[in-house]
Amino acid sequence: MGNRKDEHVDLALEQRSGITRNDFDDVRFVHHALGGVDRGSVSTAVEVAGANWPVPFYLNGMTGGSERTGAINRDLAVAARETGIAMAAGSLSAYLKDAATAPSFRVIRDENPDGFVMANVNATVSSDDAQHAVDLLEADALQIHINSVQETVMPEGDRDFAAWPGAIEAIVQRVGVPVIVKEVGFGLSSKTLARLAELGVSYADVSGRGGTDFAKIENSRRRLGDYASLVGWGQSTPEALIEADASTSPTPVLLASGGVRTPLDVLRALALGARAVGVSGHFLEVLVEEGLETLVEHIRSWQDQLAALQTMLGAPTPAALRQQELILHGALLEFCASRGID
Ligand code: FNR
Repeated sequence: MGNRKDEHVDLALEQRSGITRNDFDDVRFVHHALGGVDRGSVSTAVEVAGANWPVPFYLNGMTGGSERTGAINRDLAVAARETGIAMAAGSLSAYLKDAATAPSFRVIRDENPDGFVMANVNATVSSDDAQHAVDLLEADALQIHINSVQETVMPEGDRDFAAWPGAIEAIVQRVGVPVIVKEVGFGLSSKTLARLAELGVSYADVSGRGGTDFAKIENSRRRLGDYASLVGWGQSTPEALIEADASTSPTPVLLASGGVRTPLDVLRALALGARAVGVSGHFLEVLVEEGLETLVEHIRSWQDQLAALQTMLGAPTPAALRQQELILHGALLEFCASRGID
């Protein structure tokens, strides 16, 4: 298990150089030269899961379960503490199977006693185990990842998915904290979002295509690389947000992640309807390539740039970005046409 977690980190980092263009580049803001406001009137804060986050982006679920990933979690937790941003653990499945891995996750809370911390489990755990994961981290919220594409390509992955909705419903009813259901980079369709709302889920992270690709990661762990055709599967993050916005069914409050590279991508996701935006691969790369101090500076710079861009765009709050006029291009327009979205 520990070795698999280490491999995920290495393979995710290997992909980074290939992540240059994605669907966020097909989303432009109409520029209004007299549209700006005063910096002093701008707030970047958002309310998520009953808490006030100072900025609308967070460190999304990644890792834990081995010595090396425990050290990564320690650094990420210090960065979260120093900058005040929320942070999710990677899947606590390892801990639920082997309690000896607890320190590699618990470090997230030990380093950041007052921060907003999310635990993370898959949709096969019992509701009691989900609560154990929350308890280990004294977590403020619980992420449940749904990852049927990853499991399919993973040699040792699950092949039974029918019980997932029932498991999610049971966890929502059992745990004492808000639940966020998330993909891991293949997107949530509006049909899935409507189903999650029916199951009582209050937050969903669409986590779409455009950044870390787990089909590629798991395929390179297979001896024959048999599933190469699934690389690039799923809806991109902007596609998922646009489809959710056009849907007439109730949906959970939307979070977004997948392919976020810059503060401008954060603003794009907010303008497309996300309450807050998760970042994984990019921040991991900054940490591993350039170290903890640079990651802290980098996150502070994003916080600063977000406020500056909201000022320029005339959006006093992240929610006000929903009123921005957007121009969509290329593949995103094709997606809208094929899904019957104006
Ligand atoms: C992940 N991701 C992830 N998600 C999750 O819910 N549980 C997990 O254990 C992991 N593990 C994991 C490891 C590594 C090394 C990475 C890079 C990512 C998925 C992550 O939360 C996110 O959904 C995707 O990575 C898409 O976002 P980025 O990487 O494109 O910003």
